Amino acid sequence: MAKKHYLGLAILGLRNRFHSLIAILVAVFVVVTIYIAGKSTWLFKDLIITTRTGYSDSLSRCDLFSGKWVFDNSTYPLYSEKQCSFMSDQLACEKFGRKDLSYQNWRWQPNQCDLPRFNATALLGRLRGKRLVFVGDSLNRGQWVSMVCLVESVVPQPLKSMQTNGSLITFRATEYNATIEFYWAPLLVESNSDDPVNHRLPDRIVRAQAIEKHAIHWTDADILVFNSYLWWRRPKMKVLWGSFGSPNGMYKEIEMLRSYEMALKTWSDWLEIHVNHTKTQLFFVSMSPTHFWADEWGMPKEGNCYNETKPITEDGYRGRGSDPKMMRVVKTAIDELKTKGVNVKILNITQLSEYRKEGHPSIYRKQWEPLTRDQILNPSSYSDCIHWCLPGVPDAWNELLYAYIFS
Ligand SMILES: *[C@@H]1O[C@H](CO)[C@@H](O)[C@H](O)[C@H]1NC(C)=O
Ligand SMILES: *[C@@H]1O[C@H](CO)[C@@H](O)[C@H](O)[C@H]1NC(C)=O
Ligand SMILES: *[C@@H]1O[C@H](CO)[C@@H](O)[C@H](O)[C@H]1NC(C)=O
Ligand SMILES: *[C@@H]1O[C@H](CO)[C@@H](O)[C@H](O)[C@H]1NC(C)=O
Ligand SMILES: *[C@@H]1O[C@H](CO)[C@@H](O)[C@H](O)[C@H]1NC(C)=O
Ligand SMILES: *[C@@H]1O[C@H](CO)[C@@H](O)[C@H](O)[C@H]1NC(C)=O
Ligand SMILES: *[C@@H]1O[C@H](CO)[C@@H](O)[C@H](O)[C@H]1NC(C)=O
Repeated sequence: MAKKHYLGLAILGLRNRFHSLIAILVAVFVVVTIYIAGKSTWLFKDLIITTRTGYSDSLSRCDLFSGKWVFDNSTYPLYSEKQCSFMSDQLACEKFGRKDLSYQNWRWQPNQCDLPRFNATALLGRLRGKRLVFVGDSLNRGQWVSMVCLVESVVPQPLKSMQTNGSLITFRATEYNATIEFYWAPLLVESNSDDPVNHRLPDRIVRAQAIEKHAIHWTDADILVFNSYLWWRRPKMKVLWGSFGSPNGMYKEIEMLRSYEMALKTWSDWLEIHVNHTKTQLFFVSMSPTHFWADEWGMPKEGNCYNETKPITEDGYRGRGSDPKMMRVVKTAIDELKTKGVNVKILNITQLSEYRKEGHPSIYRKQWEPLTRDQILNPSSYSDCIHWCLPGVPDAWNELLYAYIFS
């Protein structure tokens, strides 16, 4: 009995030891598994960052707008001015005699990450059955031309077209049923400058509370890229209540910033109510800087962007032409939209473009009116230091847009 009991105990002891052995093995297994799993997620995370398959992940952690320009003539320009079928004479600096072409060779390098390589085929694939619409002024139009030039080379001739209809101009890639469009609305809301051709009027009048006439042309777009800045640059704006040509219309001169705020309110109300927030990706391009005063970068003050051949290297350089107050008005309007569930991404191109004093057409563009003798003697007097040569700075804006479209 005792023996049996002993045996029983012994078996019990053995069983206990067996159980603890299993327990130990299980514990070891668990620890090793956790360790390996932990290791592999780290490895996996590294992989995501290095291969950029998880690009959106790194995008949210990276400020794409702080960085520097790097000279890179092996990959830039991304297209050739001559070969772009839809190049604009306003931006074709090489065609109009510019000899120094290094403005085409700069790549924007964010500090904390790399931009994805622009892939026209991938973008058109993404735009299949969709509308990408740029809405705004001539700077936005420049960005649109850049976008068309960036993608059109991968579309064979019979499968692409360009069509103008009033304020809307449409590039179509037939095979993809995709369009990249530009809608002329320099003040976003209605104004007396809405004619896409004849809009240089001495007196600027804005209907700050009316946008529908424009918006019906782009409300159903899949991606919308807005801008509006330069046309507001005057101390006061004439605001119209009522409609153009109506006898009981009421005009009032209003401080510019206030009228800009009113217009952006009209714009954001429209987005909130009429645009499908699940379907549509929204962007606002911040102000594009000008380079009219060479003393800002240490040259004689009579000069401007004319004759400039190199970017500014001073980190954080900012010219007098850029108005941070207007930028804040935009930011406030967009922050408020966010509280209502509407997400507009600011493409903050101001700082990166500030550096590019040599990127403007200056005198190398089509002149709409014959030059006077005085002008010919003093080329900087008729320099365009507002727009940007293509290929050039707006291509970088589109690389940023591309990064967000794929995020
Ligand atoms: C690129 O720039 C370097 C330095 O300015 C020059 O030596 C080289 O010839 C250029 N290459 C091309 C393809 O233009
Ligand atoms: C560009 O994108 C297309 C379609 O996604 C892909 O097949 C191609 O390999 C990409 N090209 C490069 C150079 O990455
Ligand atoms: C082409 O795209 C438009 C949107 O831009 C869409 O309404 C239409 O149904 C598409 N057509 C085809 C044949 O896929
Ligand atoms: C031009 O746009 C109007 C709407 O604004 C439309 O009714 C008309 O069919 C368009 N014309 C062409 C040729 O596409
Ligand atoms: C908004 O777009 C989404 C995605 O395309 C669609 O499923 C939904 O029906 C749209 N909503 C409205 C109100 O049209
Ligand atoms: C522009 O550069 C040329 C050649 O370097 C020089 O002769 C000319 O004086 C410069 N003009 C101005 C306005 O700086
Ligand atoms: C844009 O970037 C500049 C400099 O990087 C910054 O000072 C400014 O606040 C930014 N603006 C917005 C609206 O994010």
